[in-house]
Parts: sequence; structure tokens; C-alpha cells
Amino acid sequence: MTDILQELQDRRAQARMGGGERRIASQHAKGKLTARERIELLLDEDSFEEFDMFVAHRCTDFGMEQDRPAGDGVITGWGTINGRMVYVFSQDFTVFGGSLSETHAQKICKIQDMAVQNGAPIIGINDSGGARIQEGVASLAGYAEVFQRNIMASGVVPQISLIMGPCAGGAVYSPAMTDFIFMVKDTSYMFVTGPDVVKTVTNEIVSAEELGGASTHTKKSSVADGAFENDVEALAEARRLVDLLPLNNREKPPVRPFFDDPARIDESLDTLVPDNANTPYDMKELILKIADEGDFYEIQEDFAKNIITGFVRMEGSTVGVVANQPMVLAGCLDIDASRKAARFVRFCDAFEIPILTLVDVPGFLPGTSQEYGGVIKHGAKLLFAYGEATVPKVTVITRKAYGGAYDVMASKHLRGDFNYAWPTAEIAVMGAKGATEIIHRTDLGDADKIAEHTKNYEDRFANPFVAAERGFIDEVIQPQSTRRRVTRAFASLRNKNLQNPWKKHDNIPL
Ligand code: HXC
Repeated sequence: MTDILQELQDRRAQARMGGGERRIASQHAKGKLTARERIELLLDEDSFEEFDMFVAHRCTDFGMEQDRPAGDGVITGWGTINGRMVYVFSQDFTVFGGSLSETHAQKICKIQDMAVQNGAPIIGINDSGGARIQEGVASLAGYAEVFQRNIMASGVVPQISLIMGPCAGGAVYSPAMTDFIFMVKDTSYMFVTGPDVVKTVTNEIVSAEELGGASTHTKKSSVADGAFENDVEALAEARRLVDLLPLNNREKPPVRPFFDDPARIDESLDTLVPDNANTPYDMKELILKIADEGDFYEIQEDFAKNIITGFVRMEGSTVGVVANQPMVLAGCLDIDASRKAARFVRFCDAFEIPILTLVDVPGFLPGTSQEYGGVIKHGAKLLFAYGEATVPKVTVITRKAYGGAYDVMASKHLRGDFNYAWPTAEIAVMGAKGATEIIHRTDLGDADKIAEHTKNYEDRFANPFVAAERGFIDEVIQPQSTRRRVTRAFASLRNKNLQNPWKKHDNIPL
């Protein structure tokens, strides 16, 4: 008996060593943690329960039968984050470069299946040289099995990908189908074809970092949702994100104790909107002042900054926030902003997270690049996402809500539950100047007349009351009381029950 126990201890110790001391040292020298160290930091202390520690590959080509490390380059299992269950896989770069074999894929698939069955998020830590070259098509098949499960899990349990090393070729498509991707600056990259192939095919000379590093994917491509300084920071942020999310689509978002008065008045909000309608102000200030304890978890902070997306808590409960940012492009909607916000709204709706929309939008960004780029289809994504969402929707218009963008931004007409406006709101087809120049074209040469027409238009339309008279705005509220109004609105919607007609699935303009 003691021999067998000893064998178990020995086998475990060997499995824990992954690819051995030399490769672990090399991993550390690159500024990266090992797969096991990452799991330790991600999960609550001593909460990790491992699966398949002794799984080994079955490849017999290229002398591989001589080298069958326990675990086969990926560590899988479950544990808790602040007491709440999650499933995790962590690719071990020290074993065959974390490359994906048939058995490596089977280990990932097993925890994907369990996560869906048992209703808990999946966190995948990616650090891999891609398909296990010695296994060929068996490895490709393994990827496809993982992809299929990513698709089935989408909208059922939250899926989070942490990219902490290479992630190239078709391998990128598993993270790409998850809900959130975090990358680590300088040590992670994602691309479909690497710098060498790019050079051969297009003659472009580009480094891996430029082509697919964290900065590229959080600022240019929007493939990733957050970029962090190192593994430790990325793992800590993943824990914070999980804290905000429900474990699955059958659960309400988590509620945690809060220490902030839901009725807190903030008089500074009465002067947040400047007198001059063309002067920007920082919409983040409003978000922070409405949120419990001023805590805001931003998603895609560095991309399409003209729209802000992220999570706050109100009375301890998670709320998704979408807000135009007047500081950037005057808060216009464009292709990037529409795509970013649409995906966020759909995530919230899939996981029953109520949505707060803060509106100050002068319209859609004009220009050939926008039209050629398909702003019609992309803008429609956001419109569609809001319109199909059945979660509680509370909207506050702080200033401009012009034209089609007014409709899009969770208006009453898209089943907004509470549509509030500040007294400074201007809900109209367009701004006074533009409107005057169209209606009174014949007076364009006469500055005094134009000024008078503009003033008349402003007096008539640049306010929230025309919309309020029609019931499109439920109430014009004092800015200082926004937190109280919004928290009460969401509280009243806790039992909201709205269902869309049965369909196989919709056909959102992708
Ligand atoms: C088997 C691999 C491997 C792979 C790396 N290794 N990638 N083994 N299959 N795909 C092994 C190396 O042989 C080496 O083993 C160890 O992992 C570390 O690799 P190094 O090259 O020493 O590390 P580094 O210099 O950091 O370079 C990392 C790398 C490079 C850039 C990822 O290893 C590389 O280019 N690998 C090949 C990538 C690739 O072409 N993959 C297939 C892509 S196609 P030792 O024993 O020396 O430690 C693909 C299709 C997926 O993935 C399709 C899905 C639909």
C-alpha cells in the first residue's frame, strides 16, 4: 500500500514539473508564469481540483512514443473565485510548447462539457505553439472539437480567454469565440498568419508584437478587451471580471454587499453639462458618480473611445453601462463604436445583466470611409442589439440625442423601460444650426435671420419637453438625483418578464 501511495506521490510530482526545470526557467526568463502558477493566482487558495493529470498523448510518429509527459501540455480542472465556481484550462508551454494534440484537446473539451452541464464560467489560459505538428490532422480535429464547444457554450456560460503567450493560426478562433479576451503586453500575441508568412505574401515587414500584440488588439483590431502589464495583473483582472458576472444564463447577476447610499445626491452633476452645447465633458465622471462606490470595470477601454462600455454595480447588483463619450469625436456613433457597443449589449442580454445607457450623441459620423466601411450595417448591429434585448433597460439622456442615433441608443421605441432626460437634453432630428440651414436655405446669406431662426429652433426643439409631452421620455430628472432615479428604476424591474417571439435564431446584420 505504501508503495502505491508513494507511486501516486511520485507521479504527481513528476506531472507538476511539466517540461522540466530548464523549460520552466526559460518560461520565467521570458517574464511569464508557468501554467500551474497562473492557476494558483487565478483561483482561491487551495480551491483547484485537477482533472486528467495523467493523460498522455498517443502519438507514435517521430519517436514521440519515447516522450509522453503526464498531462500532455494542458492543466485542466475547476476551482473557485471568491467562492464561486469556475472551470479552467491552462496550456503548459513547457510541454511541447503547449501545442494542442488530440488528447490535449480532449482534456479541454471535457471541462467545456462539464462547465456547460454544471453552469459555471470557463476560463482558458492560452500559451501554445498551435497544432501539435507531430500529430497532424488529429490535432486539427481536436481544435474543431474545442471550437464546436465554444459555440455551444456561447450565451450559456461566460467564457473568458487569457492570452499569455503565442496564439497563432487557427488556434486564435477558440478565444475569438469567447466573450472576453485579455492579453499580456509584450509576452502575448495572436495572429492568423505570422510575420514570416506576411512578409512572403504581402511583402510587409512587421514584428510579432506589431502584428498581433496586446496593443494592436486592444487599440486597432478590437480582438481583445483588455491589455495588462504582466500575468499577475491579467489574472487579478480576470478575477474582478468573474465577480461581476453570473455563473450561467439561468442565474441573475451576482449581488454583493454595498456601502453606498442608493439615494446619494451628487450636486456636482447639476453642472456637469457645460452651457455651450459644443463644449465636451467627460461622461466617465457621470458613470463614476452613479456607480456604487465609484467603481467602474471598463471593457475595451482603448478602442472606439467615443463610446464607453463596462460594468458597475447598483445596490450591489451588476449593471452593464453603455455611454456616449462627448470627449471623443463629440460622442458620434461610427462603425467601431457601433460594433463595440452592440457586442457588449448582446453579452449583457445573454446573461441577464440590466443595461444602463447614457446618451449624448450628435448622430452618426459622416464620411466616405464610414459609408464605404458599411456604417449602415454596423450601426444596425447596435440598433438590433438594443431592440432585441429583453433585460431591464434604463436610459438617461444628458444632452444631445439627435436623429437616428436617438432611436438607436435604447430609446423608448426600442422597449426602453425607463427613459429619463436631464433638463439639458436636446432631443431632435439634428442640431439647431444644421436644421436651420436646411429649412431656411433661402436666408443663408442673412446672418441675422439665420441667427434668429436658429434661436427659434433651439427654443422649440433643443429641450427634452417635446419628447416628454409625447411620453417618449418618462420623466425629466434633476442631474443630482440620477443615482437615486436609476437605482430605483432597476429595483422596480427586478421581476421584469419580457419574451421575444419564438424563432430558431435571429439574423442580426453581422
Ligand atoms: C510541437 C512544438 C510546437 C508545435 C513549439 N513546439 N511549437 N512542438 N508542435 N506546434 C516545441 C518546440 O519544439 C520546443 O520544444 C518547445 O515547444 C518550445 O519551442 P521554441 O521554438 O523553443 O520556443 P520559442 O522560441 O519561444 O518559439 C515559440 C513558437 C515556435 C513561436 C511558438 O515554437 C513556433 O513557431 N512553433 C511552431 C508554430 C506552428 O507553426 N504551429 C503550427 C501552426 S498551424 P523543445 O523540446 O525544444 O523544448 C496551427 C493550425 C491550427 O496551429 C489550426 C486550428 C484549426
